[in-house]
Amino acid sequence: MQASFLKHRAPVALALLAGLAQGPAAWAQQGTQAPGQAASPIYGVTIPPGYRKWEMIAPAEEAAPLDELRVVLGNPVAIKAIENATLPYPDGTILVKLAYKRKQSDDFGPATVPGQPTTVQVMVKDSRRYASTGGWGYGRFINGVPANEAQHQTCFACHASKVKDRDYVFTRFAP
Ligand code: HEC
Repeated sequence: MQASFLKHRAPVALALLAGLAQGPAAWAQQGTQAPGQAASPIYGVTIPPGYRKWEMIAPAEEAAPLDELRVVLGNPVAIKAIENATLPYPDGTILVKLAYKRKQSDDFGPATVPGQPTTVQVMVKDSRRYASTGGWGYGRFINGVPANEAQHQTCFACHASKVKDRDYVFTRFAP
């Protein structure tokens, strides 16, 4: 167990070192988190380095009042689990949801495009660490800063009330 934990974390550690070597500008460019930034309350989840290059699972659109476009990305562990229809998701799975305000395209009226980014939300599977919340740790970040504890108290309740039978994950793979 410990060995497989380390195996999953090793590439992350390397990515962290690479990021450090390149300095803060590189972090910003890669959409990754600078070292030392705060983790989410309750769960201690951080924005995973390199997530912006992960595969898309599906897009989504949220009606008013949020009026957002979203896209959910999965790390390689998540994508493999989806391909093999593995449920529950294995430890090491990470899902990231990026959200943007909806905006009418400046170039073409009928098109709706991403406007201002609003949140980055993260779910990390670690069945032992997060045993009391279905094995998932949650993080919501606004401009890279974790939202408050009150917001983090809502995550599991909503996911558990609607999609417990799909390992608490709403998003279905869009081919
Ligand atoms: C009121 C219900 C509700 C609450 C509260 C909620 N979510 Fe979700 N979440 C959803 C829905 C619905 C989706 C499906 C995609 C979408 O509509 O944006 C989703 C999707 C996600 C996803 C992508 C994986 C999936 O399950 O589809 C992540 C990551 C996520 N939420 C994180 C969080 C975090 C972190 C919090 C707390 C800070 C949170 N959510 C609170 C309803 C909720």
